[in-house]
Amino acid sequence: MILHTERLRLEPCNAAHYDGLRVVNTDPEVMRFLGGAQAMEETRAWIERAEARWAALGYSWWSIILTESGRIIGAGCIQHIENDPANDIEIGWRLLPDTWGHGYAGETARAMADFAFRELPITQLFSNADPQNAASIKVMQRLGMRFLERRHYYGSECATYVMDRPGPPAAPGR
Ligand SMILES: CC(C)(COP(=O)(O)OP(=O)(O)OC[C@H]1O[C@@H](n2cnc3c(N)ncnc32)[C@H](O)[C@@H]1OP(=O)(O)O)[C@@H](O)C(=O)NCCC(=O)NCCS
Repeated sequence: MILHTERLRLEPCNAAHYDGLRVVNTDPEVMRFLGGAQAMEETRAWIERAEARWAALGYSWWSIILTESGRIIGAGCIQHIENDPANDIEIGWRLLPDTWGHGYAGETARAMADFAFRELPITQLFSNADPQNAASIKVMQRLGMRFLERRHYYGSECATYVMDRPGPPAAPGR
């Protein structure tokens, strides 16, 4: 499902995005806390896995595209933690360094979290970051997530954050 925000279009990752996504996933600065830069040929397989999950589940990775220019500036996801269907659902993001500091991660995160609570029968949404990844943790906090605990995912220790499904506003007291 394509999502629109004020400045961005989020399109499910597909083969047509290869050139843009390859630049994102092979950037050592982007991938510093994400297991290191992908080799170029890995991006195709990564896109194919995302396409398969979109087809099977109805959610996975989106390409983050600047509406005005059409430039792919990053990617964001709603997925099972470690892509294990037994695990909870997490939200994630990565952006090209020259686009940091403009609020694009927050804008993407809000749109994806709204999607997740609207489309999926979940009561909580999780996010995991390297405890040193202050920029990502800031995005989580601004989204309204709270620190839960340290957990071991993706082969290393993570700071795990969580947010609850937004409820209807409390009924006025009598
Ligand atoms: C994590 C990551 C996406 C965060 O990017 P970011 O640009 O810092 O985050 P945002 O887009 O939310 O931007 C935040 C800044 O933009 C500012 N901002 C918010 N809305 C804005 C707007 N509409 N216009 C301009 N600036 C805005 C905020 O005030 C904030 O500035 P601050 O840091 O001084 O508070 C980026 O650091 C990244 O891609 N890192 C590498 C990949 C990675 O580690 N991903 C996470 C794995 S868990």
